Amino acid sequence: MKARKYSLLKKRELLRRFTAKTRDRETRVHLREFQEKDREKIQEILGDVKIFTQAEIDVAMSLVDETLGRDQSYCFVVAVDQDDTALGYICYGQAPMTANTWEVYWIAVSRRYQRRHIGSLLLEEVEKDIRVKAGRLIVIETSTKPSYRSTRKFYLEMGYRVTARIPRFYSEVDDKLILCKYITR
Ligand SMILES: CC(C)(COP(=O)(O)OP(=O)(O)OC[C@H]1O[C@@H](n2cnc3c(N)ncnc32)[C@H](O)[C@@H]1OP(=O)(O)O)[C@@H](O)C(=O)NCCC(=O)NCCS
Repeated sequence: MKARKYSLLKKRELLRRFTAKTRDRETRVHLREFQEKDREKIQEILGDVKIFTQAEIDVAMSLVDETLGRDQSYCFVVAVDQDDTALGYICYGQAPMTANTWEVYWIAVSRRYQRRHIGSLLLEEVEKDIRVKAGRLIVIETSTKPSYRSTRKFYLEMGYRVTARIPRFYSEVDDKLILCKYITR
């Protein structure tokens, strides 16, 4: 009886994570590999989230373009709706010169679809992939600006812990936070 209850709960949880409810209708979300046609939508999402500077968007887009140019340093996962339109994405890769430490370089979910577990779906997928590749540690860098408050809450909720803080790294009023999660087997 106990086991059955668990599996029902698990099923409900999975359904919740794969169904993003929008105001007007239900959007079925699934994950897939990055395709060339996602470029424009990703650029739109990076602008739409309203927290990135133009310089940051340019760097994020340079990772997209390097990947389209067949550079294999970066991995992408894209969350799409039933029309195969990107709603969010994540970019990650193995940190060079480390024994299987990985970094999440970028994550963004279109504002309208935030807080519907698309970000956690993306990050969990990446963690799964890193685990399969025998990764040991995932590192994420972020900012202490007030506009990143929900981003920090998201990472903490996902089990990342603040491991270092570099005061005044980004600017006189903006520290760098380094968050880590060790992969358990
Ligand atoms: C950070 C981001 C990717 C999270 O994606 P998301 O799909 O909105 O996040 P989820 O719905 O999966 O959130 C998972 C949990 O994180 C926490 N969380 C996420 N957003 C939050 C918010 N605005 N306020 C408080 N908690 C929040 C919650 O605990 C949430 O679970 P709950 O809704 O069941 O309480 C998204 O908000 C985003 O694109 N932000 C702007 C871009 C950005 O900051 N990128 C990272 C740069 S370092």
